[in-house]
Amino acid sequence: MRKKIVAGNWKMNLTVQEGLQLSAEIADFVKNNPLEKLNGNPAVIMFTPFTHVYSVSDSVKGLKGLSTGAQNCHTEEKGAFTGETSVSMIKSAGALNVLVGHSERRAYFGETNEVLARKVKAAMDAGLTPMYCCGEVLEERNASNHFEVVKEQLEKGLFWLSAEEFAKVVIAYEPVWAIGTGVTASPGQAQEMHAYIRGLIKDKYNNEVAENTSILYGGSCNAKNAAELFANKDVDGGLIGGASLKAEDFCTIIQSF
Ligand code: 13P
Repeated sequence: MRKKIVAGNWKMNLTVQEGLQLSAEIADFVKNNPLEKLNGNPAVIMFTPFTHVYSVSDSVKGLKGLSTGAQNCHTEEKGAFTGETSVSMIKSAGALNVLVGHSERRAYFGETNEVLARKVKAAMDAGLTPMYCCGEVLEERNASNHFEVVKEQLEKGLFWLSAEEFAKVVIAYEPVWAIGTGVTASPGQAQEMHAYIRGLIKDKYNNEVAENTSILYGGSCNAKNAAELFANKDVDGGLIGGASLKAEDFCTIIQSF
């Protein structure tokens, strides 16, 4: 059965000390509310800046269902790539997950579907779970191209994986027009795209793989609207930006299944 997941993407926010404070509050919540006893038994992930991965991972070590991740990785294992971070470094810092293809990486750092496919491979080879992000910009939705755009992102970034490999991937659908804007996709829009994505996975692989893939929604998901988004049958949780920076809001979202 596919996993319910609530993931916080801290983006470029919080000092290490502030991050440790936030993760301590989330860890306290998890200690007092074991995730397996909550509706949906959600897994919780904190995608922190690179500088925080080691200390935040260390601070939540052993807490069931709570793990950490990096927001990006390099395609290569090591070498002369000043300023970059490899998957083995991320793994050795204690993270289990890595975001691949966030729209901010695509838009501001020129990451193409082809490069992202190599990042997915690097993550899988290292035993990290890649959370692959997809989603259209407003012009694409207005031109009714959103399905085609997402299809291409999935085909080029992920659909070269074997069914066995694909089973280890998590997908986050994040319409770019909803990220950080306060405009959320309606539950109907989210469900429509999630069902479409699941259908593509079914066509490419099979029904079992499709049914077992977690597809998260991201884009102005918050403590107030999470429940109505998560109530949709193909929405398996959320990738949360702004609202993941406040423990109270994030913990409300964790309880929104
Ligand atoms: P917001 O929740 O701030 O809109 O960000 C969403 C996001 O980009 C998560 O990766």
